[in-house]
Amino acid sequence: MGFRHVINSWSILHVFLFITSCFCLEFTSAIDSLRVNQSIRDGDSEVLVSSGQTCKLGFFSPVNSSYRYVGVMYNIPVLTVIWVANRETPLNDSAGTVEISEDGNLVVLNGQKGIVWSSNLSNPVTNSSVHLLDTGNLVLQDNSRGMNIWESFQHASDSLMQRMRILTDLRTNEKNILTSWRNPSDPALGSFTASIEPLELPEVVIRKGGDPYWRSGPWDGQLFIGIAGMGTYLYQNGFDVVNDNPQTAYLSFTHFNASVLLYFFLNASGILQQKAWSDGYRDWDVTFSSIQNECDVYGKCGPFGFCNAQAMPICTCLPGFEPKNIDEWNAANWTSGCTRKTRLQCEKNNSAGEMGKQDGFLRLNTVKLPARVKWSPNLEADCGSQCLNNCSCIAYSFYAGIGCMLWTESLIDVQKFPSGGGDLYIRLAHSELDNKKDRKAIIATTVVFGFIFITICTYFLLKWYRGRKQKSWQLLTRKGKTYPEYSKESVLKDNLNGVKLEELPFFKFEMLSNATSNFDSSCKLGEGGFGPVYKGKLPDGQEIAVKRLARSSNQGLEEFKNEVEVISKLQHRNLVRLLGCCVESEEKMLVYEYMPNGSLDAYLFGSRKQEFLDWKIRKFIIEGICRGLLYLHRDSRLRIIHRDLKASNILLDEELNPKISDFGMARIFGGKEDQANTTRVVGTFGYMAPEYALEGKFSEKSDVYSFGVQLLEIVSGRKNTSFYNDEQAGSLIAYAWKLWNEEKITDLVEAAVYDPQLKPEIVRYAHVGLLCVEVVAQDRPNISTVLSMLSSEIVELPHPNQPAFIVHKRSPEKGSSNRSPRKFSVNDVTLTIIDGR
Ligand SMILES: *[C@@H]1O[C@H](CO)[C@@H](O)[C@H](O)[C@H]1NC(C)=O
Ligand SMILES: *[C@@H]1O[C@H](CO)[C@@H](O)[C@H](O)[C@H]1NC(C)=O
Ligand SMILES: *[C@@H]1O[C@H](CO)[C@@H](O)[C@H](O)[C@H]1NC(C)=O
Ligand SMILES: *[C@@H]1O[C@H](CO)[C@@H](O)[C@H](O)[C@H]1NC(C)=O
Ligand SMILES: *[C@@H]1O[C@H](CO)[C@@H](O)[C@H](O)[C@H]1NC(C)=O
Ligand SMILES: *[C@@H]1O[C@H](CO)[C@@H](O)[C@H](O)[C@H]1NC(C)=O
Ligand SMILES: *[C@@H]1O[C@H](CO)[C@@H](O)[C@H](O)[C@H]1NC(C)=O
Ligand SMILES: *[C@@H]1O[C@H](CO)[C@@H](O)[C@H](O)[C@H]1NC(C)=O
Ligand SMILES: *[C@@H]1O[C@H](CO)[C@@H](O)[C@H](O)[C@H]1NC(C)=O
Ligand SMILES: *[C@@H]1O[C@H](CO)[C@@H](O)[C@H](O)[C@H]1NC(C)=O
Repeated sequence: MGFRHVINSWSILHVFLFITSCFCLEFTSAIDSLRVNQSIRDGDSEVLVSSGQTCKLGFFSPVNSSYRYVGVMYNIPVLTVIWVANRETPLNDSAGTVEISEDGNLVVLNGQKGIVWSSNLSNPVTNSSVHLLDTGNLVLQDNSRGMNIWESFQHASDSLMQRMRILTDLRTNEKNILTSWRNPSDPALGSFTASIEPLELPEVVIRKGGDPYWRSGPWDGQLFIGIAGMGTYLYQNGFDVVNDNPQTAYLSFTHFNASVLLYFFLNASGILQQKAWSDGYRDWDVTFSSIQNECDVYGKCGPFGFCNAQAMPICTCLPGFEPKNIDEWNAANWTSGCTRKTRLQCEKNNSAGEMGKQDGFLRLNTVKLPARVKWSPNLEADCGSQCLNNCSCIAYSFYAGIGCMLWTESLIDVQKFPSGGGDLYIRLAHSELDNKKDRKAIIATTVVFGFIFITICTYFLLKWYRGRKQKSWQLLTRKGKTYPEYSKESVLKDNLNGVKLEELPFFKFEMLSNATSNFDSSCKLGEGGFGPVYKGKLPDGQEIAVKRLARSSNQGLEEFKNEVEVISKLQHRNLVRLLGCCVESEEKMLVYEYMPNGSLDAYLFGSRKQEFLDWKIRKFIIEGICRGLLYLHRDSRLRIIHRDLKASNILLDEELNPKISDFGMARIFGGKEDQANTTRVVGTFGYMAPEYALEGKFSEKSDVYSFGVQLLEIVSGRKNTSFYNDEQAGSLIAYAWKLWNEEKITDLVEAAVYDPQLKPEIVRYAHVGLLCVEVVAQDRPNISTVLSMLSSEIVELPHPNQPAFIVHKRSPEKGSSNRSPRKFSVNDVTLTIIDGR
């Protein structure tokens, strides 16, 4: 989907305009819109102020400059310019005016009525007006067609405000990038630009005259992985990076607290800064700066160089490499970088029968991964062997939330981070991997390790003879989290042999038993898909939820493995976090972060229902689930179909952030695969899409269906299953469809929630819900479209078609039994189409 722009606060604006227009004559300084035949004159007190008083449009002179410019500024005591119209064409006196020209363009005129700057639209418009919104967006509106024809947000200066989009679209060559000022006294185009580059993995790149100067590292669905510590200080910004295909990408952000003035700007030295207005100090705080040390400058140490800001000198060569020009290098000129010491085995011409040992990989941990990455859809996480098998691949990394990354060009911009970052595996000739060590040390360690190895092997062999044989299963390694690893020893025996779990923390049974008072029933939180869930507290005080697989459950074992495999690769604020697992003899347990507010169904339909009467919270939860699902389907780069979305699988943290849980049924899709069949239909009755329940076909669209059901449940506050005895409707979807056709869809929400002001929003949400549950899977929107629809980025929604609902022949449903996922045979289920009219 391309770039869409819509301003949805239109009608509100009109009301406001009507009110303000009554005062225009007396208070010209307080208008928020400019119409034909109105003008703003430099020197007068007249300025355009946004309705919420946050921004103003007017004339200004930068520090140490007498030239006059027209710009949008924050309406605060400190001059803070966020957008400039006549950047390249300053006015040399105070005789300028801003007005709408006869052809409907917004223009800046000099004293002689000459056009100094114009919004430069080619099609004349007879009735247009200019509005300044509280976001800082200056929009030119065609009143006869009722649409925006020009926006300052699409012609960025050097600042990125909330809800503004930085965009690159290679298909249409459309770009919206930040360009720095030449210097603090001159807003003319400077040499630095900041843009989002739609590589396969989008990232923010600052260029100086076209050459890279700084890069953020790829987006992992939540963070840019090349910014040290981004998790802690930029986390609350709600960044949104969308690249639906490798040709386009855009970035925007919204801070969770709308009342904080906050923006990013690219200063004249090419440093991207985030600034937050402090009411206390009455000045700006710099809360983020793209360059924090010398190593942050792109390619500081040259190709194959390795930068560590903590070291002296900061540059070294990557292991296995040596300076290209030793004199330059020693004189601290690192630009030419390093070269490989020993040629790779795979590069040698082996036709002469020269056989050497195979190349290997050396791991560098917690680094900023190099630039010019290639992404591979390799799902088996055999990233390493893929890289080894292709001589042009010189490094790889596997990163949760992104997947397999490969490098084929010289490695540049590698930096050591104190923590975080990724693990980089560099291909080296075999001799480079161990030739640094002293021979004696090698012998000594070989003896010691050999002894340990033999001991372990003997132990495992004995175990193996006693233990049952189990199908081995693969597990991708997980990015090292900061969580302490409690025990990693010989727990991989029995059922988990052959598994690479080295990065997933293991908990000892004893520790979990102590944490949950020996699995006391008072600690029990509920019964999950394959066993009970307990609340516990670790010795360090952290609260956890422990899911214990019932000993006898064989089916549960599959789901246990699946869940570990899927969720250990993911991290997103709307997915529950797996802290580790425990596999000891007969016991298998998963350890999660504890969610104090329990599951959504308990919250929505249970005793705390009263608190849920707030429409804002409902919206927040729906949007969170949608973002989590978007991450699973798109942003995680693994394409995961959850297959069992329902209210009881949504957990709520202390801030009521919804988190998707229970990945026992989830399936990972390969690169081009977008639909699969299964003979084993698992899922929860009432949430399953018809094509899945009846034919076993599942795809992203079957998750969208389940999401639609959930959305309608949250909007209505009624359980889908609560309708089984209802003569009138039979299901929530049927009920919603009936109301829709009777044009009474607002009846879906309880009277206590309803407020006429909310009507457009409630109608929109219900409308989107109905689009998600359409019969034909192809007709349902995909989840990124759903998110755009909910947030009103897409204004015109298609008309919903006939929804699908499955009616169980046997009714009523047993009360709480829908907590656990059950199997449905196709014969038990019928698809019923009810005509609403
Ligand atoms: C603007 O002023 C011109 C000349 O005074 C007049 O002809 C025109 O009708 C005015 N337009 C509006 C929209 O008032
Ligand atoms: C403005 O000019 C003064 C005096 O020349 C100088 O000290 C100051 O640094 C300048 N300010 C900026 C922002 O360039
Ligand atoms: C200002 O600019 C105008 C034309 O752009 C020019 O005619 C005029 O002489 C300039 N005034 C000064 C004081 O430089
Ligand atoms: C205005 O548009 C015309 C043609 O579309 C273009 O040639 C011209 O450079 C533009 N001027 C400005 C100031 O952008
Ligand atoms: C311009 O459009 C507005 C809103 O549609 C309308 O109220 C106004 O009368 C129009 N003005 C002219 C001159 O057509
Ligand atoms: C939002 O920001 C305002 C102003 O800085 C502050 O007073 C308020 O406490 C903040 N609200 C939250 C929920 O952080
Ligand atoms: C840009 O920001 C950096 C870091 O805060 C600062 O050192 C530098 O002086 C700024 N550049 C300009 C031109 O203000
Ligand atoms: C560093 O080395 C490069 C390439 O040899 C050369 O072009 C450049 O001038 C040198 N820089 C300095 C500061 O000596
Ligand atoms: C490899 O060796 C063969 C036979 O000796 C020779 O024909 C070929 O050109 C060599 N290739 C390279 C890349 O050296
Ligand atoms: C090796 O990788 C390069 C670059 O990605 C690619 O062009 C080439 O086709 C690959 N070769 C094989 C045999 O996969």
